[in-house]
Amino acid sequence: MSTHRWTAAILGALFLAHIAAADDDESRSKRGRGADVAPVADARYAKECGGCHFAYQPGLLPARSWQKLMDSLSDHFGDNAELSKEDAAAIAEYLTANAADRVDYKRSVKIVKALSDQETPVRISAMPYMVRKHDHIPARFVAENWRVKTLGNCPACHRRADTGSYGEHEIKIPGYPRWEED
Ligand code: HEC
Ligand code: HEC
Repeated sequence: MSTHRWTAAILGALFLAHIAAADDDESRSKRGRGADVAPVADARYAKECGGCHFAYQPGLLPARSWQKLMDSLSDHFGDNAELSKEDAAAIAEYLTANAADRVDYKRSVKIVKALSDQETPVRISAMPYMVRKHDHIPARFVAENWRVKTLGNCPACHRRADTGSYGEHEIKIPGYPRWEED
C-alpha cells in the first residue's frame, strides 16, 4: 500500500471513530434528558435514606464510597442509621450498581475523573469535584445561612436537585436574589 492509501485509511478510521463518539454523546444526553445524574429510582432507598436528609443520587459517589457508608451505618456521621440486613443489602446493591463509576451520566463521569482511586470519601460534599465547584461560594451563603447550613444540603440551593439536575441556571441561594459568578 502506498503512503497515500495508508493516510486515507487512517483518516477514514478516524472519521468513523468521530461519528461513533458523536453518536455516543447523543444517546447519552437522550438517556440523561438533561439530568446531570440519574434521578433516584428506588423507593426503598428514598424511604430509608431520605428521611434525615436529601436522598442523594447514587451517581454522586463511586461504588466503593457507597459500600463504605453502607458498612458503617451504626456510626453514620455520629448518628445511628442501621437498617435490617435485608434493607441494607438491597440498598447497597442499588447504590453500588448505579454509582458514579458504573454509569455514564455526564456529571458522574466528571466526579469520578476528579477523584484519585486511592481515595474513598464518604461525603459527596468532600469529593474533589464538588469542592472545586463550590469553593468560591462565600460562607454567608452556606454555613452562616440558616436555610442552608451545610453543602450537603443540595436542594436548598439547587432547585431541581431531586430530578438529578444541577445546572447553574437552576440555582437559587435562599435569602439571596440570584447567584452571580464573580
Ligand atoms: C438518622 C438520620 C440519618 C439516616 C436515616 C441516614 N443519614 Fe445520612 N447523614 C446523617 C447525618 C447526621 C449526616 C451528616 C450531616 C452533616 O454533618 O452535614 C449524614 C450524611 C450523609 C452523607 C454525606 C453528605 C455530604 O455531606 O455530602 C451521605 C452520602 C449519607 N448521609 C448517606 C446516607 C445513606 C446512604 C443512608 C441510608 C442507608 C442515610 N444516609 C441515612 C443522618 C442520617
Ligand atoms: C449554598 C448553595 C449550594 C449548595 C448547598 C450546593 N450547591 Fe452545588 N452549586 C452551587 C453554586 C452557586 C454553584 C455554581 C458555582 C459556579 O458558579 O461555578 C454550584 C455548582 C454545582 C455543580 C456544577 C454545576 C455546573 O453546571 O457546573 C454541581 C454538579 C453541584 N453544584 C452539585 C451539588 C450537590 C450534589 C450538592 C449537595 C451535595 C450541592 N451542589 C450543594 C450552590 C450550592
